[in-house]
Amino acid sequence: MFGMFESNHCHKTLFCRRCLPVYLPLNTIFMYRTHTCGELRKTNIGETVTLSGWVQGVRDKGSLLWIDLRDRYGITQITIETENAAKEIVKTARELGREYVISVKGSVIERYSKSDKISTGDIEIVPSDIKILNAAIVPPFTIEDDTDGGDEIRMKYRYLDIRREVVRNNLKLRHSLSRETRKYLDAHQFIEIETPVLIKSTPEGARDFVVPSRMNQGQFYALPQSPQTFKQLLMVSGIDRYYQIVKCFRDEDLRADRQPEFTQIDCEMSFVDQDDILIMFEGLVKHLFKEIKGIEIDPLPRMSYDDAMRLYGNDKPDIRFGMQFADLTAITQNKGFNVFDQAEVVLAIVAPGANHFTRKQLDELTDWIKRPQIGAKGMIYCRCNDDGTFKSSADKFFNENELKRWGEITGAKAGDLILVLSGELKNTRKQMSELRIEMGRQLGLRDPKVFAPLWVTDFPLLELDEDTNRWHAMHHPFTSPKPEDIAMMKTNPGAIRANAYDMVINGIEVGGGSIRIHHKNLQQKMFKLLNFTDEEAKAQFGFLMNAFEYGAPPHGGLAFGFDRLCSLFGGSDSIRDFIAFPKNNMGRDVMIDAPSLISLEQKKELGL
Ligand code: AMO
Repeated sequence: MFGMFESNHCHKTLFCRRCLPVYLPLNTIFMYRTHTCGELRKTNIGETVTLSGWVQGVRDKGSLLWIDLRDRYGITQITIETENAAKEIVKTARELGREYVISVKGSVIERYSKSDKISTGDIEIVPSDIKILNAAIVPPFTIEDDTDGGDEIRMKYRYLDIRREVVRNNLKLRHSLSRETRKYLDAHQFIEIETPVLIKSTPEGARDFVVPSRMNQGQFYALPQSPQTFKQLLMVSGIDRYYQIVKCFRDEDLRADRQPEFTQIDCEMSFVDQDDILIMFEGLVKHLFKEIKGIEIDPLPRMSYDDAMRLYGNDKPDIRFGMQFADLTAITQNKGFNVFDQAEVVLAIVAPGANHFTRKQLDELTDWIKRPQIGAKGMIYCRCNDDGTFKSSADKFFNENELKRWGEITGAKAGDLILVLSGELKNTRKQMSELRIEMGRQLGLRDPKVFAPLWVTDFPLLELDEDTNRWHAMHHPFTSPKPEDIAMMKTNPGAIRANAYDMVINGIEVGGGSIRIHHKNLQQKMFKLLNFTDEEAKAQFGFLMNAFEYGAPPHGGLAFGFDRLCSLFGGSDSIRDFIAFPKNNMGRDVMIDAPSLISLEQKKELGL
């Protein structure tokens, strides 16, 4: 996998004349090294080389002394026969501590006992000179894959954490993903354009981070939650195909897949409909899987939001495994079982081959689903026995024939386990979705090496905020309704479908976008639906609506969550592992200790 992250550059050496002559004069000599610590092989035996790096460790056996020298590229062993070596070399070697920065000149010899654990395991260096370039105090944790450093301490000393190969590989993966993204988009005529960071609020649904203006006291910039309005303006400008790998800022509660500042691959295209966008960015994702992981991805299935909610109770279904919901409402009511009789829906999933689950396991599962975070009232199960009979925890109310119907409707086979939840539609779907994912995990169906991307389409345009009884844009207010649904803007806004889509991979929303409104009138109507007065709409988005009057082309786009893509490709749940200097769960950078107080003078200057 390591090699696949690399670019076309041969990477045989930092100093390759074939790869680098365009950039470097041929007589360039690097002072500190002729080779990297990951580079020397049997073919170099007999050469005199200079390496520079960090001391990974020193082993002193008296007559023999070894130094493991590490840099970004690998580790090389330096061997000193203390009785034969120059006194000065032995003395310097014995002064070394972990993480000292040194430069070693010496000759490459074949190793007596070879190591297949490192790429340079066939050779070692006999030094003729060792220079200490900088001493180091003892690091607070060991710089090894399995470090003894806890999360907080590694974040405080993140620059040391990044010396570890696992972290560095994550950053290399990130680099490779951005390089391949640029390659693909460049090949398809996209232009990378930077948009400003000090802007006015964009309504993407989270809170803004704000920045006080010194020159306009009492006024604030907002940091962009995304470059949404700017990329639309670029379409009005005729840029046609835009992208940007760009920092976005959202002041929202943090989770493993959310950071307050994160990166998007932000894209926009003109003269396109939804299909054009889906095809273009399906291509990007296929390209990334092929180039980075060597995996060919099948054409992405497309699923409507309604189907995703009906079959998976979730608008980001993990389709690595089946276990789709079956609706047992019609056949389970009026059988004297109060719980089902009072429920709006009775939903079931089939856990394949799980009828061996013990009573204890099922009780634990029931307790799990009843936790306040999930909030189910209880769970009914039905075992599908090998002899074709059924045994349910509710068989007081359902006879064998009725349970057989459960089997038919859910498609359960002998050996399977049917799990049933009931209640109000929205909650039951949510709870069943959690149960499905948990069962998928317990049954080993969520293999991180398997990737199952899909498009979820036809999102509702609006969602009702039940506290304020107001409509909110489900994606953002610039998303266009489906033309055939526009008539419902007055009569039934909740039923309007949007030209909006998400890309979901393994249950993670990796990207989302929409076809935009490009007519001023429709945009005005949309703002009205969202309870903006004409004045408010004009004050906040007049610049966009004005632009629409100067010939706005039909346009649309999407943005991928770049950190999420990286963590998915790297097989981790946490995006922090793929960000060089991430924030902790309180939004703090514990290394530089930010956010922090500012001085009274600074505040005064800013008019705060
Ligand atoms: P959206 O808000 O869906 O769309 O964001 C796009 C993608 O960005 C990722 N994402 C995040 N990643 C890490 N931390 C966060 N706090 C975070 N928030 C979002 C998700 C998400 O799918 N302007 C629109 C795009 C468009 O319409 O073109 C937008 O920002 O993976």
